[in-house]
Amino acid sequence: MAPRKVIIDCDPGQDDAVALFLAMASPAELDVLGITTVAGNVPLELTQRNARMMCDIAGRTDLPVYAGCEKPLVRDAITAEYIHGATGIDGIDVFEPETPLQAQHAVDFIVETLRNAETASVTLIPTGPMTNIAAAIQRDPAILDAVERIVSMGGAMREGGNRSPSAEFNVLVDPHAADIVYRCGRPVTAMGLDVTHQVLSTRERVMRIRNVGNAVAVATADMLSFFHRYDTRKYGSEGAPLHDPCTVAWLLRPDLFATKACNLSVETGSALTLGHTAVDFWHVTDRPHNIDWTYEVDAEGFYDLLVEKLAVFGD
Ligand code: RIB
Ligand code: CA
Repeated sequence: MAPRKVIIDCDPGQDDAVALFLAMASPAELDVLGITTVAGNVPLELTQRNARMMCDIAGRTDLPVYAGCEKPLVRDAITAEYIHGATGIDGIDVFEPETPLQAQHAVDFIVETLRNAETASVTLIPTGPMTNIAAAIQRDPAILDAVERIVSMGGAMREGGNRSPSAEFNVLVDPHAADIVYRCGRPVTAMGLDVTHQVLSTRERVMRIRNVGNAVAVATADMLSFFHRYDTRKYGSEGAPLHDPCTVAWLLRPDLFATKACNLSVETGSALTLGHTAVDFWHVTDRPHNIDWTYEVDAEGFYDLLVEKLAVFGD
């Protein structure tokens, strides 16, 4: 079977970085057409640099990386250095990557790629605020014909919010973009906090990753060893939720996850609950089932997959 064509739209971010490694470790399953970056965890000039660093670490300096939107569609930008550190990928030393930044804007790359793609042939994997993808859809709604599926990290149902009492960070940063993406009419698999909080990067799991021993695995362990500090203090949990790799893991092993078709609607008006994702899990409304909500994951199977995939990178 030919590998699935994907575009990963991200805001690295340690967990975005692990999602990139997981995708780059799976060339038989995923053909990464490009990595597009967006302002999110840290400003755009850092997220694009961080994505290019991950390509260097993985030996994939050939992968095209694009910089996209430096602020949300409507709101002012908010960031998350308090979780990810000033670099966005604290835990490893930053360096100027060899992987070049493409001159083309990420939104132009997304529009052009989808305009030239066959029907339902490209999967979009947003793991940050969905500004780039929403801007592309606004520019040319016809590009949606080429979208096979959108597998997003964002939103929350039972878990509540992480950046506000009622909103998850990616959706809160750009609720207007999230609303456009979730209501775009193409198949959407939504990975929210309810499932990502089931895959905690415990010390034992980070040690398993470190013991893989190659540069990518060691960099992953080093980043996760920083990344979990905030969440373990906040939640009293043993390890941080490994949010973004859940998207790529679902594409590789959907059997590890449980999903349910339902409606997800985004609050874009209220100051109190801006960015809240109202997930109608029990179908109590007649709202259209616009997404597949992911609500359960085999955590051990997830980490087995991650360790197996990180081992493919040579020393
Ligand atoms: O709320 C978690 C999400 O926000 C993750 O994608 C993390 O990288 C941040 O972008
Ligand atoms: Ca992210």
